[in-house]
Amino acid sequence: MRLHLAYSLAVLACLAAAPANAAGNPARGKDIAEKKCSLCHAVGPTGESAAPKAPAFRTLSERYPIDSLQEALAEGITVGHEGVTMPEFRMEPREIDDFLSYLKSINK
Ligand code: HEC
Repeated sequence: MRLHLAYSLAVLACLAAAPANAAGNPARGKDIAEKKCSLCHAVGPTGESAAPKAPAFRTLSERYPIDSLQEALAEGITVGHEGVTMPEFRMEPREIDDFLSYLKSINK
């Protein structure tokens, strides 16, 4: 409980410190990545993907601009996922902003 409270406070502190025009919240984006994508993808700044063919999220910017994922996420991502069994990936615009801001934070 105590740890969780500390985490929430840290997130709030980040929110307060974030510039007013920040497009998304990377902490919430990280949460989304961990909940929805980490089953197969490495979603952090280090580590290997659980699914051998799934690219680590920190390398996505080597393939295309991170912003180009926006549309795919809004429509429900199928890009690169043909033949892969997985849950539906449609995200709300708010979640997409958060998710993309997190991706940008771990990509160089
Ligand atoms: C069940 C496993 C699984 C889950 C869960 C999963 N992926 Fe993937 N993903 C893969 C695999 C495997 C590939 C590589 C497919 C290939 O190259 O043939 C991939 C590829 C990708 C690519 C690269 C596509 C390309 O064309 O370069 C992106 C972007 C991506 N996934 C995003 C996501 C996001 C965002 C989530 C969570 C919302 C997610 N994936 C969840 C298995 C998964």
